Amino acid sequence: MMDSQKKAERYGRLYDQISGLLHKSNNMLSNMSTIIAVLHHKMDYFFWTGFYLLQDGRLQVGPYQGSLACIDLQKDTGVCWAGIQTGQTVIVDDVAAFPGHIACDARSCSEIVVPLLDQEGKLVGVLDVDSSSKSSFDEIDALWLERIVRLVYSS
Ligand code: SME
Repeated sequence: MMDSQKKAERYGRLYDQISGLLHKSNNMLSNMSTIIAVLHHKMDYFFWTGFYLLQDGRLQVGPYQGSLACIDLQKDTGVCWAGIQTGQTVIVDDVAAFPGHIACDARSCSEIVVPLLDQEGKLVGVLDVDSSSKSSFDEIDALWLERIVRLVYSS
């Protein structure tokens, strides 16, 4: 596992890179896709990286990279819906121990979900990252992914 200092430094560099890339964009889909591409290819423990977006009461997959994902997540079930219900970042060290976890790929072992708010502060979805190792995500991932997700609507 990456040590804490290295992890924070890497996130700091990626944050600057993403801010620069999104600087002139006013397109949320472009912003989300760019964030996913950078994170997925620069963080080596990110096995699946993507957004799930709320629409008409359903939570459906948005821009992502990694193996084929579930398109529609059963309402009020699993980690992504827990992020929507609480409006808080959710870290799961072992997905097998999370009641209702939805396994789109059996290789996923740990997961982090970060709420996505629009410019009015309305919850519109989540960023979801899976790792194929247990306990990959901690407070450093939470802090930096929350900062990065804020760039979708305020770059
Ligand atoms: N595990 C998620 C579903 C999405 S996949 O991880 C890509 C969940 O329980 O909500």
